[in-house]
Amino acid sequence: MDLRPIGVFDSGLGGLTAVRSLREILPSEDLIYFGDTARVPYGGRARETLLKYARQDVRFLRTFDLKAILIACGTVSTTSLEALQAENDLPVVGVVEPTCRRALLVTKNKRVGVIATLASIRSGAYEAALRRLDPAVQVYGRPCPLFVPLVENGRVNRGDVVIETVAREYLRPLLEDGVDTLILGCTHYPLLQEIIADICGPGVTLVSAGEESAFELKRLLKARGLRAEGDRRGETAFYVSERPENFEDIASLFLREDLHHAARRVDIDQY
Ligand code: DGL
Repeated sequence: MDLRPIGVFDSGLGGLTAVRSLREILPSEDLIYFGDTARVPYGGRARETLLKYARQDVRFLRTFDLKAILIACGTVSTTSLEALQAENDLPVVGVVEPTCRRALLVTKNKRVGVIATLASIRSGAYEAALRRLDPAVQVYGRPCPLFVPLVENGRVNRGDVVIETVAREYLRPLLEDGVDTLILGCTHYPLLQEIIADICGPGVTLVSAGEESAFELKRLLKARGLRAEGDRRGETAFYVSERPENFEDIASLFLREDLHHAARRVDIDQY
């Protein structure tokens, strides 16, 4: 039994999809969430910049006595996971490997699509993980750079012609490639799940990064005897680097629950 919190971070709102899964899968755990809303989006940035940001995010989170960290960000997971794991003396879980394992379980025709940020696609990390796990798989990757800014602005609803047009354009080539499984490789994308599912149709199974990594974290905590168990209901504290008010409005919508405590602002440059 270990009641210390789990640290979770992302560039902004996207990691909340992982928080939602964690709250369902590990309801007794306390979470500390950091969204780097001052510097979102991460997806177009260079590897060195991403590593610098990720290190600062982790340094802030580690001002709390954490038992594990979940990188609820595809972009940081694809570019900086190994460095963060090597530098930290606690379990650090990323989204790539668990998501790829799940995709390979569901694909029947072994044609797997990956949509993610530019930095993630450029890194080749999803493709490499899929091939390592199953050399016979064919991988079709596509960056979707407009998705994150649209999600951060709440453009996530069916019938929104802007997001639907952009999504159709991004997804068309993947559908032409005949994928039967699509990895939503950026944690912002599950917020577009309905729209993506409408466009892809029932022949394509969507696999979302945040959810799979929450299961991975659960396995890891159990194996190391680090679970908080019993009837307790865990709490989540939210920190952002800019505009806490905007975050709160959209966050409660995405989490489908009210935030018990207001989001607090952190000067991330200090870390
Ligand atoms: N949600 C993040 C990801 O999973 C970051 C997106 C961004 O900031 O561009 O990649």
